[in-house]
Amino acid sequence: PITTKVDSLLAIMTLEEKVGQMNQYNGFWNVTGPAPKEGDAAARYDDLRNGRVGSMLNVTGVEEVRKVQKIAVEESRLGIPLIIGFDVIHGYKTISPIPLAEAASWNMELIRRSAEVAAREAAASGINWTFAPMVDISRDARWGRVMEGAGEDPYLGSLIAAARVTGFQGDDLSSPLTIAACAKHFAGYGFSEAGRDYNTVDVGTSTLYNTILPPFKAAKEAGVRTFMNSFNILNGIPATGNALLQRDILKGDWDFSGFVVSDWGTIDEMISHGYAKDGKDAALKAIKAGSDMDMESYHYLNHLKELVENGAVKEGLIDDAVRRILRLKFELGLFDDPYKYCDPEREQEIVGSDEHHAAVLEMAKNSIVLLKNENDLLPLKKEGLNIALIGPLADDKTSPLGNWRIAADDSTAVSVLEGLNAYDGNRITHRQGVKLIEGTPSFTRETLINTTDRSGISQAVAAARGKDAVIMVLGEHGFLSGEARSRASLDLPGLQQELLEAVYKVNKNVILVLMNGRPLTINWADKNIPAIVEAWQLGSESGHAIAQVLYGDHTPSGKLPMTFPKDVGQLPLYYNYMNTGRPNTNNPGEVFWSHYIDMENTPLYPFGHGLSYTSFKYDKLKISKDSIQDEEVLEVSFELTNTGERTGTETAQLYIRDHVASRTRPVKELKKFMQVILKPGETQTIIMTISEEDLAFYTDHNRWQAETGNFSIFIGGSSETSLDTSFYYKNNIF
Ligand code: IFM
Repeated sequence: PITTKVDSLLAIMTLEEKVGQMNQYNGFWNVTGPAPKEGDAAARYDDLRNGRVGSMLNVTGVEEVRKVQKIAVEESRLGIPLIIGFDVIHGYKTISPIPLAEAASWNMELIRRSAEVAAREAAASGINWTFAPMVDISRDARWGRVMEGAGEDPYLGSLIAAARVTGFQGDDLSSPLTIAACAKHFAGYGFSEAGRDYNTVDVGTSTLYNTILPPFKAAKEAGVRTFMNSFNILNGIPATGNALLQRDILKGDWDFSGFVVSDWGTIDEMISHGYAKDGKDAALKAIKAGSDMDMESYHYLNHLKELVENGAVKEGLIDDAVRRILRLKFELGLFDDPYKYCDPEREQEIVGSDEHHAAVLEMAKNSIVLLKNENDLLPLKKEGLNIALIGPLADDKTSPLGNWRIAADDSTAVSVLEGLNAYDGNRITHRQGVKLIEGTPSFTRETLINTTDRSGISQAVAAARGKDAVIMVLGEHGFLSGEARSRASLDLPGLQQELLEAVYKVNKNVILVLMNGRPLTINWADKNIPAIVEAWQLGSESGHAIAQVLYGDHTPSGKLPMTFPKDVGQLPLYYNYMNTGRPNTNNPGEVFWSHYIDMENTPLYPFGHGLSYTSFKYDKLKISKDSIQDEEVLEVSFELTNTGERTGTETAQLYIRDHVASRTRPVKELKKFMQVILKPGETQTIIMTISEEDLAFYTDHNRWQAETGNFSIFIGGSSETSLDTSFYYKNNIF
């Protein structure tokens, strides 16, 4: 058994070698953090030789990986192989939609498959550990990293977390085509104040346990082998030094047997947070709190040995961390064959295969959300139309790749122009109109959003005049979301709004295709533009997916995983909010209720919203009983009918409300959903069940439990549901 192998190895390791396993180095290029300074490479190679490194990140490709692995395995005293980590977030070379877009599919099998494809390509390129999935819930679209998560809902987020873990890890970690996953960022990173990255997080018990932690728990249950902690402080204590999170909850209550890697430099950042006085103190606090591996702070390497020798840290803590790290190396099969991920022929055959492109195309089509479609402007006829294609993103082959796709090559996405040109029945006139950025965009630099060049607007307007339809592709550059890409405004950046209004003046048949990494505030467009398609950043096959939707070869079925606000001032805005003591009384003239004087409370598009080229009717909601108790199951049934003229997929959603509880509960909570394909005129009776598990939450008695009382059930095609009923639940155990 692996435990015996781990223990035998641990028994012959020196303290320095143990600490070495807890150290992770960056490779030699500037990618997800600063590259080592000139001259440091030689020192790093020496450290590999001397058993002072357990893992490396940002080393890719079979040749490069083999090079560092060879030193660790063939030149160090014990020959312990390295784990090679990389941010394989939504694809490796063949890029899937950004994770937020994938979440809009609400399709767990496609999401699992997308992670599987990413794992296959990464594993074939030498990598055996991804820093994904990011399972941070966020309610604030200003935060640039919302693109990397599954949106605002803990239930949907939990299912997606599990699907991604299963996709990356498969059912056999020792296969050369699967990689270890990492649930990050533990915890609370998505709740940074004001949506500003790395900022303070201060949340109460209810939000922590009922909203933030469930997707992490789901990842753990799905067998995720590692966790990454986060940059933020949580309720005054940096996540990296947070024993409640890492020791009590994760390794205690949840009995997690894998290891925790720090985020980049977070052990050191505890000094800036004012939580540790120097590097030694930071190392002490991090190891005590349960951080097992130090990514790029060097404080474990420099101080842990001394801390053990002077008695400040018990060697048992080091042994526990090293056991966890070695266990994963055994599970991956690295001791049997350290070069198992380094086969150049496999790399050649697998990376970028047709099969992978087909999988990401399927994912991309299903990630698209139809936000608005007045007078059935969409889908467009495939023949005989004269179409203007306008906007800075219309022929962009880089932005659709989104952020966090480090291994992908720029300009490798199919653009919308190329996607439309794959159909040859219509005439397409293309104009850029305005630029999205001025200067060269870069993953590691700020991306400019204040463009000033209006010279292309008049040509775009001229091209739009008299055309049968105008497709405008607007939104955000691919590097405008992601880490350190928080925005204070969520309007269309630069001169795009001006371009949109100018074009609309001469042609009302505008179809707005949005490409963006987060919800945007598009009130004007919602009021004026007849058709709006949310196309996010859809990856390598972006243009094909968009064209297939615009021409009706794929009927859109995506549903928003995140609320779209009307105004940035409404944030954080989310559907599962708590009622205030002053909810809207609907009394004209009433002033003293919880609202804005200059803006509604309601969103532009609610969570779960998404249209189809057909329409659906929800009817005849029934429940099997008026009351249930303990573990009894309530059956909820309703009829769903396709009332339109095309076959379509609908995601039927079930929400509950627990009316009185020991901690107040949200006005609505998603608890079940089902995807159904219906032909025109077809009706299906949908049955969903509700049981104690669905009603449970982290109560004021600090345990998961369903409490006795009245519950509502809501059914519909978005969180703005159309049917409701109620039942009573009795818990006889507590
Ligand atoms: O995995 C990432 C993390 O999400 C942010 N900081 C850097 C890490 C490694 O690249």
